[in-house]
Amino acid sequence: MTSNDTGSSNLGSRVVLFPLPAQGHINPMFQLANILHSIGYAISIVYTPHNAPDISRFPHFHFQLISDSNSQSDYPIFKPLDVVSSINQLNVHYAGPFKICLARILSDHESFGTVRCIVADAIWHFTQAVADELNIPRIVLRTSSVCSFLAFTALPLFRKIGYLANLEARAEEAVQEFPPIKVKDIPTIGDGDQDSTIELISTVVTETKKSSGLIFNTFQELEPPDLNELRRQFRMPVFAVGPFHKRFSAAETSLRKQDRSSIDWLDTQAPQSVLYVSFGSVATMDKTAFLEAAWGLANSGQPFLWVVRPGSINGAVAAPGSEMLPGEWAEEVSQRSCVVEWAPQQEVLAHPSVGGFWTHSGWNSTLESICEGVPMMCAPCFGDQMVNARWVSDVWRIGINLERVFARRDVEEGVR
Ligand code: UDX
Repeated sequence: MTSNDTGSSNLGSRVVLFPLPAQGHINPMFQLANILHSIGYAISIVYTPHNAPDISRFPHFHFQLISDSNSQSDYPIFKPLDVVSSINQLNVHYAGPFKICLARILSDHESFGTVRCIVADAIWHFTQAVADELNIPRIVLRTSSVCSFLAFTALPLFRKIGYLANLEARAEEAVQEFPPIKVKDIPTIGDGDQDSTIELISTVVTETKKSSGLIFNTFQELEPPDLNELRRQFRMPVFAVGPFHKRFSAAETSLRKQDRSSIDWLDTQAPQSVLYVSFGSVATMDKTAFLEAAWGLANSGQPFLWVVRPGSINGAVAAPGSEMLPGEWAEEVSQRSCVVEWAPQQEVLAHPSVGGFWTHSGWNSTLESICEGVPMMCAPCFGDQMVNARWVSDVWRIGINLERVFARRDVEEGVR
């Protein structure tokens, strides 16, 4: 364990937070930390070297870096196909270091004052056992929507009914037990072994139910029946206290440099004319899908701002613009496109030139878009994203769903 203490002078009530090391989980956890700090709590954040945020941007927090006891581990952190195994490894390897770290904070009253509780990402399921052992309440932050969390908790039921054994053959079938999702929207992760996903989710649910409370980055008016159902199933305090990003921006915790030239470019575009295209920090696509997306955008005739994250196109080595996009495509869209590696997304969505968002339906992106009133075109990739996309198109009716596999014609028509 390495120590990296800053800002530990606040001796008021303290909360210790433990984000999962992935962009879509770090953002809401830090936003929640800022909210708690704004109402008077001293904040400690325990973090890992994987996807470490820039802690110099948070001088008002105390940080504690913990290292994996198996320092040789090279996690394929959150590549879509390896998410479950990455999460399992993280839970095994960080249990010991986290416990040592938390025990130290709890026992050092002089430096840290009274610790009221820990707030841990739901995926860090081992933290319940540690909290119980050290006799400190644990509050869980689940960074997804409530609707998708309920779909995850229903996975054992979906398996029992037989949907999971026939995912491809029954893809278009309605899931009667969980309207309005279809079989293809069942929140699977990886490419086959759903048993390991179900085992992980069952552990997350069991350990969450043992906690003192459950926080969601959502709000009552957005998911009222889902929140009612969650409270019925979980019988514990549930706090729907989002949207966090309207209080504190995600820019401070961006793991990549946000390219501000995208805002300069948006400034030159007509009101509500631009389609913003981004698939978050984890999703990847193969070359065929990438080219279908590219030609769909070109054929739509609409101006677009496209985030092409390095590493997001399977098999691409260099910047995809130069390596994979044909010259004729670049020529065709040169007057009405801007391609960047990472954008200041919240600012982009709030920009008057943006009229639509083609998204992978990650929960942060979905919520950020909803809050700016930007209609969505959804192309979900894995996990919670399919359920979010179905809710966007069929429940909230604020967008369309291209479904999981799309061709250039779907894109072209969707944009129009
Ligand atoms: C992951 C999962 O994939 C997602 O399904 C889950 O709901 C949360 O964890 P991710 O895929 O990264 O997250 O998507 P999302 O939840 O949308 O979070 C992405 C974050 O990165 C957003 O806060 C967004 O504003 C930010 N972002 C994205 C940028 O700042 N710039 C970009 O160019 C793209």
